[in-house]
Amino acid sequence: MNTELGTDLLKALRLIQAGQAVAVPTETVYGLAADANNEEAVLSIFAAKGRPSSNPLILHFDELTTALPYTAVFPEIFQKLYHAFSPGPLTFIVPKSSLVSGLITGGQDTVAIRFPKHPVLQELLQQLGRPLAAPSANLYGQLSPTSALHVEAQLAGRIPYILDGGSCNEGLESTIIGLIDDQVVVYRYGSITPEALSEVLGYLPAAKVHAEGGVLTSGMVKHHYATQTPLFLGFRPAETPQTAVQITIGPNQTVTGPHLILSKNASLIEAARNLYAVLHHADSLGLAQIYVESFPNDGLGLAMNDRLARAAAKFA
Ligand code: TXA
Ligand code: MG
Repeated sequence: MNTELGTDLLKALRLIQAGQAVAVPTETVYGLAADANNEEAVLSIFAAKGRPSSNPLILHFDELTTALPYTAVFPEIFQKLYHAFSPGPLTFIVPKSSLVSGLITGGQDTVAIRFPKHPVLQELLQQLGRPLAAPSANLYGQLSPTSALHVEAQLAGRIPYILDGGSCNEGLESTIIGLIDDQVVVYRYGSITPEALSEVLGYLPAAKVHAEGGVLTSGMVKHHYATQTPLFLGFRPAETPQTAVQITIGPNQTVTGPHLILSKNASLIEAARNLYAVLHHADSLGLAQIYVESFPNDGLGLAMNDRLARAAAKFA
């Protein structure tokens, strides 16, 4: 299959209406989107990614009123969070209605829904008038894409079109939340932090980011978001200066040898935005190892440490 890269929204729309999976920009990472009401189209997402079909997909909507028919209930506390953070990088796990195919939910009776903020995807969703099922547009287990070129590097030949909407502004997959005994819990850390949620909730939501028992979300899989080059957390040992690249949050005078910086001002927001792009770049250098400085373990640092720990787990 020939993969075209461009900015033709109408072309992406026509392909999706014809049942194809197309890569689309979101504010978090690029998604591989297909008509959620077309089971064959949904199956083509799993095929293109090489993803096990037991891993559920997120449904993307323009706004809550369009989403409600796909849910059995949308709890009041989620409505409050919706008004505070949507459209944006927050995914809600809610009981599904009969409109949602078991193919989307991996056979579970809950569905993940999100209201992306990227103007191109908002426009596409409004023109389509139905939900888009979309996982991140990477091969299963590999680094998430934050630019159209990242998608092309992994999925060329597997999908017909990549809709280029520029670099993703947030750079990390959405925060995923659910409800347990009327308490909001975080299933995946993202750029909406537990602290930010607590301002609306009045309490700090508990984190359930490691699978207990069965695997609930693919982001919980220990080896995930990985580079090809062995990746380690922290600073490289002094004896390996030329065979490893060191990634640091901000400028760091003590680093010698290959060195990449996530943010010139050591800004965590900028570091999050650049994290995957810098990891893609580090992976392309052909060096023996990648070392990444750990982030402070709070706020946005939680999400970045989580992704890095899962990437490093593959090589531990
Ligand atoms: O920012 C994002 O969320 C991006 C963009 C494209 O929207 N999407 C994304 O999708 O990261 P994906 O498929 O790579 O990760 C979605 C996560 C998976 O870990 C999946 O298992 C979880 O959401 N998930 C989906 N439905 C679920 C459900 N019913 N219960 C629990 N987890 C669910
Ligand atoms: Mg993913």
